[in-house]
Amino acid sequence: MKIRGIITVPPDKSISHRAIIFSSIADKSSHIYNLLEGDDVIRTLNIMKSCGIRFEGDFKHLQVHPTTIKEPLQPLYCGNSGTSARLLTGLFSSQKGLFVLYGDESLSRRPMRRVTEPLLQMGANILGRNKGKNLPIAIMGKKLKGIEYSSHIASAQVKSAVILASLFANSPTIYTEPFKSRDHTERMLTYMGIKIKIKGNTIKVFPGKPSATEFFIPGDFSSAAFFITFGVIHPDAELTIKDIGLNPTRTQFLHTLQKMGANIELIPKGSDIEPYGDIKVYSSQLKGVEITSSEVPRMIDELPLIALLGVFANGITAVRGAKELRYKESDRISSTVSELKKMGAEIQELPDGFVVKGTGRLHLSELNSHKDHRIAMMLAIASLCTEEGKIPTIQGEEWVKISYPNFFETLKGVVK
Ligand code: S3P
Repeated sequence: MKIRGIITVPPDKSISHRAIIFSSIADKSSHIYNLLEGDDVIRTLNIMKSCGIRFEGDFKHLQVHPTTIKEPLQPLYCGNSGTSARLLTGLFSSQKGLFVLYGDESLSRRPMRRVTEPLLQMGANILGRNKGKNLPIAIMGKKLKGIEYSSHIASAQVKSAVILASLFANSPTIYTEPFKSRDHTERMLTYMGIKIKIKGNTIKVFPGKPSATEFFIPGDFSSAAFFITFGVIHPDAELTIKDIGLNPTRTQFLHTLQKMGANIELIPKGSDIEPYGDIKVYSSQLKGVEITSSEVPRMIDELPLIALLGVFANGITAVRGAKELRYKESDRISSTVSELKKMGAEIQELPDGFVVKGTGRLHLSELNSHKDHRIAMMLAIASLCTEEGKIPTIQGEEWVKISYPNFFETLKGVVK
C-alpha cells in the first residue's frame, strides 16, 4: 500500500464559529467565504438564527445581516459543541432577554464553571445545573462591568467568552491566562476594529462594536494533523495538504514533529486575518519526545495523535500536564489509552497524560470512538498503519461529522 495525494481539508472549526458570532454583532453585513459545514458550526449558525440574525447564501459564501440580538422563543441547542456553549454564554450574558443553552450527553458533562465564574464577576445573571457546573444553563442578560481576571486554565473558549462579554461592558477588561491559548478571537476582533492590547499572556479588551468585514477561512490545522500523522508514520507516504491555517498558537504539533525527526516541508502562502500555507509530509524515522504543560494549549486537539506517533517512534514518548484532555468531547486520555491498548500499544495512562513505548506495530481490533470525532479519526489512521492495513468499522465513526464530514472519503482517496 502507498499513500499519495494532494488534498485539502475542511475549513477551520474555531474560526468558523467566530466568524458567525462576530459578524452577528457587527455594525453592517459581513461576508464569510469557506465556512465549515460541520455539525458544531451548524449549531452556532442555528442559534444565531433563533436570535434574529439573518443569513443568506451557503457555506461557500454566506452573507450575515446583523441586528440587535432578540430573546429566542425556545431553549438553544449546542449539541456536542463546547465552542458554541462557551462563547455564546459570554455573548448572551450581556444581551437583553432570557437565553437557555443545553447540549447533548457529552456536552452536558463538560465544565461550564470556568466560563461562568469570570462572567459572574462581571455581574452576569447565570444559573446552571449541578450547582452551576453544567449545562443546561439559563442566562438573564444584563449590562456588565469590566473586571481584572486571572484564569487558572489556558482555554481559548473561556478567554473568548470573556472577550465577547467585555465588548458590551461599561469599562475595559483585563484577562490573563497561564499559557497562551489560540488567539483567533483577538486577531479577528482587532481586524474588525476592536481595541485589544496584548502583552504576553495578558489582554486588555475595550468595549466596542466590531466593523463588518470579509472572512476567508483557511483549512483546519487540527484536521490536517490526521493526514500529517498518517504521512510521517506510514512507510511509503508522500502527501501535500493545501491551504491550511498556520496560526502559531495552533501549530505546536509541527514543532513537536520536527523534534521527533519528521520529514515535513512548510510552504507559507500568505496571511489574511490568519497565516496559511501548504504542508508536505513524507515517511519518516521518528524518535520519542516529551511534552510538558506549556506546550499543551498550542496543540491541545492534536495530543491523541502524539500517542499514535509514539507507537511508531524509537524510545519513549510522554505527554504530561494535559489534564484538560479529560474535559473534551470524551475523556481523551482514557479513550486514547484504552483504544490503542486494544490494538497492542504499550501505553500507560497518567492522571495528566500518558507514556507510550515505541514498539512500531499495532494490530486491528474492535474499536470505539467514545462518540468523539477526533478519536474516531485517530483510530482510522492507526488501523491503516497495522500490518493488515485496513479500516474496520469503528463504533461511532459517524461522529467525524462534527469537524470533518468527508474524512473517510478523503482518507480512502490517498490510499493507492
Ligand atoms: C477551541 C478551543 C480549544 C479546543 C476546541 C476549540 C476554540 O478548547 O480544544 O476544540 O475554538 O476556542 P479550550 O480552549 O477549552 O482548550
